[in-house]
Amino acid sequence: MSGATKVGIIGLGKYLPEKVLTNADLERLVDTSDEWITERCGIKERRIARPDEATSDMALAAARQAMAQAGITGEDLDLIVVGTISPDTEFPSTACLLQGALGCRPIPAFDVAAACSGFLYALTIAESFIKSGKARRALVVAAEKLSAITDWTNRNTCVLFGDGAGAAVLSAVESGGILSSYLGTDGKHAELITQPAGGSRRPATHETVDKHLHAITMNGTEVFKIAVKTMADAALGAMNVLGVRSADEVDLIIPHQANIRIIQAVAKRVGVSLEGKVFLNIEKYGNMSAASTAVALAEAVESGRVKKGDKVVLVAFGSGLTWGALVIQL
Ligand code: UT7
Repeated sequence: MSGATKVGIIGLGKYLPEKVLTNADLERLVDTSDEWITERCGIKERRIARPDEATSDMALAAARQAMAQAGITGEDLDLIVVGTISPDTEFPSTACLLQGALGCRPIPAFDVAAACSGFLYALTIAESFIKSGKARRALVVAAEKLSAITDWTNRNTCVLFGDGAGAAVLSAVESGGILSSYLGTDGKHAELITQPAGGSRRPATHETVDKHLHAITMNGTEVFKIAVKTMADAALGAMNVLGVRSADEVDLIIPHQANIRIIQAVAKRVGVSLEGKVFLNIEKYGNMSAASTAVALAEAVESGRVKKGDKVVLVAFGSGLTWGALVIQL
């Protein structure tokens, strides 16, 4: 292979739990309506993991699918990076559990906590390992069991989230691959989306449990405004690095699926039509944090919406605040 190493995706996988929670089901839990959730968020249903099903179980199922597609076994992997904010336990990491379950050699394996941007952070880390010669094949997984950290009495948040996992195997490729990566954070807004208790700042007590402080809290209106501008800037930033001046030069935008109105506003700023060039699956799954972009990419390829040689922009935004955009040629 000549020139700088190109790193691409050679296998994709996904896993969605069987249980479907519809808006009608939520109407029975909190004071909400199918009409409000559909109009304000674009979500009709989401998947919920079984009580005995943890994040690593979903991650493993998605990983096995991606590895089968890539034609590799656990022994072929040199690195595992998992994007998650709902790991099985604070430690060990979900990536370590995967390393054990997949029968890998004693390779580096770790989680990345970048919330909804986790898949894009993990892809960029894996790309860097391969480019620098530290790894040949890397497994990147984004998996979340958000139902475990959702306050099911709070209508402001419980209608938004779902569970799932997506995975990608990365390797050096002859052409295409990850063409650019644009990541960022703004910790000044850390309080806008957070899990207030359970860490060293506020360890678990009866009070934190009683007050639902182990669940996701969010200032939705503020996050909404920042998300629109930041996701559009990140998508354009990742394209500009390549000298791509217009979204006409890319084939599909795959945005984080947090809210259909955010996606609409981002599409407008980026200069693409929602119908023509934006991948949507929010209606079926809601917001799965890091897993959203991973599952969407797997489905876009599986459904034929993305073909070999197509240029795709992945773009995400979440707690941190974190954001990221990648241009990938499949
Ligand atoms: O993944 C990480 C990034 N996360 C995001 O990007 C999420 C960004 N934020 C959002 O998507 C939106 O802000 C939400 C969907 C969370 C909320 O939509 P909104 O249009 O900003 O609504 P709001 O919070 O301003 O609330 C409007 C009204 C309020 O009622 P009043 O005070 O006007 O009487 C809420 O109490 O809607 C009410 N409301 C609901 N009504 C029925 C809030 N949640 C619900 C609900 N069902 N589930």
